[in-house]
Amino acid sequence: MPNPQFLVLFGSQTGTAQDVSERLGREARRRRLGCRVQALDSYPVVNLINEPLVIFVCATTGQGDPPDNMKNFWRFIFRKNLPTTALCQMEFAVLGLGDSSYTKFNFVAKKLHRRLLQLGGSALLPVCLGDDQHELGPDAAVDPWLRDLWDRVLSLLPPPPDLAEIPPGVPLPSKFTLLFLQEAPRMGSEGQRVAHPGSQEPPSESKPFLAPMISNQRVTGPSHFQDVRLIEFDISGSGISFAAGDVVLIQPSNSAAHVQQFCQVLGLDPDQLFTLQPREPDVSCPTRLPQPCSMRHLVSHYLDIASVPRRSFFELLACLSLHELEREKLLEFSSAQGQEELFEYCNRPRRTILEVLCDFPHTAAAIPPDYLLDLIPAIRPRAFSIASSMLAHPSRLQIGCSSRLCSSWLASPPWQGPVRYPSGAPESGLPRDTRHPVIMVGPALGSPSAAIQERVAQGQTRNFLFFGCRWRDQDFYWEAEWQELEMRDCLTLVPAFSREQKVYVQHRLRELGSLVWELLDRQGAYFYLAGNAKSMPADVSEALMSIFQEDGGLCSPDAAAYLARLQRTQRFQTETWA
Ligand code: 2AM
Repeated sequence: MPNPQFLVLFGSQTGTAQDVSERLGREARRRRLGCRVQALDSYPVVNLINEPLVIFVCATTGQGDPPDNMKNFWRFIFRKNLPTTALCQMEFAVLGLGDSSYTKFNFVAKKLHRRLLQLGGSALLPVCLGDDQHELGPDAAVDPWLRDLWDRVLSLLPPPPDLAEIPPGVPLPSKFTLLFLQEAPRMGSEGQRVAHPGSQEPPSESKPFLAPMISNQRVTGPSHFQDVRLIEFDISGSGISFAAGDVVLIQPSNSAAHVQQFCQVLGLDPDQLFTLQPREPDVSCPTRLPQPCSMRHLVSHYLDIASVPRRSFFELLACLSLHELEREKLLEFSSAQGQEELFEYCNRPRRTILEVLCDFPHTAAAIPPDYLLDLIPAIRPRAFSIASSMLAHPSRLQIGCSSRLCSSWLASPPWQGPVRYPSGAPESGLPRDTRHPVIMVGPALGSPSAAIQERVAQGQTRNFLFFGCRWRDQDFYWEAEWQELEMRDCLTLVPAFSREQKVYVQHRLRELGSLVWELLDRQGAYFYLAGNAKSMPADVSEALMSIFQEDGGLCSPDAAAYLARLQRTQRFQTETWA
């Protein structure tokens, strides 16, 4: 490969920015450009002053925050003493990934773009604003932006004239070689690395804590369309400690049945041992995998066969397919024109990688094992809001989740962790001064319930919960617990049953507008909104605006400024999901 002049740096929280960056890397390699792809915090940032061309791929998380793996870079790049000519040799482009249901949509990418200009960099293109809320996902904005990017990049860095582009139907070399071994491993040489109770080492990504699951209880009624679960782990002796508002990362494994099915479809022997060797010097082996490793271990604990495949999966699968009909279909799914059809086939029904491979059996049976790690992403820890309080239950950790999010591992009880903590506590949280009242709005299974438990354990009784659900007897989670707190005068509970009384939480807020105003304006209450990202956050904000006007006597611009101030001072916080 020629000089690696083309640098892609990413800040990724859930893996999408990393995936897009790897796609950029593949597209560069097809164009015969030497390319490096790195997480922002693993790149020595002072070297930026020597880089001619950098593409930044950055997600925005939470309330406009940078992802964890670019936090150091973020602090560095905003240092006041950096000269305004620091990056004057650099051409750059910023690709942002965000969610337009949040007010600070793609805040990190926009702010970075401005800062790089301030430091003397030249922008190749306007910032790209990928949006999770778009029906086709971020690709709707990313695809056309990348086409423009390659036009600009190739005019700056023309590829060597004697090397033609590698056409889209031909696979790039795999990242690793799997060297198959004949002999059996020593007993216990490939058990999963875990932190044990009482261990001095705190849990980490490469050594999570294996927490026994104590209970897994359905909290929705039998006829409710959603299977929502309250899952409880025993974390005694783990060294884990958490506060309300924190999240836990859970590292799932694939079920034995899925592992067996996968090996069958691909014609792999689960007992086959291999060692993994990178093909290129800057690629390193995943630390989570033992060496040697068995196929069973790789598939059980590493390959995310239960995830919905991304477009890059179809691209590579098409290249590897030797079956004419299947290859034609796969090429269609990986083309720009095929994206709507791919969405209907794959994303809408949430079809998994394993299911897709079963739908393309000839192709699956011919996949060279060397390509497994290029084709299938690693299982990532999933983040869940913790639903319990350590003050109320010191050795337990509860999460609430809908089985759609974690069906593969819920399907195989008895399930054990591993649970990894900490993930980096969120920037926001409950008021430090516990005398402030809190108002929680939404279906309260995650952090709101932890917050209420925690505050009650601290003796704080001014807790207000506007609980929105469909029916009292189907999805009013924890009704008994809420009522018990109410009896003890620790909670004011205001339910809104959308299918029984046709009311939403925002209607209840407005009915009690003068109380809400009094709590926010006179008593310094904190307002937490948790729920579906679609229209609830906007509707609740609108209800608050009406309350500020009708009950607070503010004019419309003052009401908007009042809401903005609550947000700025962390007294209005949201946690939404798609
Ligand atoms: P629905 O499904 O009857 O429309 C939890 O999902 C609850 O939030 C449900 O009762 C759901 O009602 C309700 N919900 C749906 N859209 C909403 C909105 N825009 N504002 C507030 N609540 C909403």
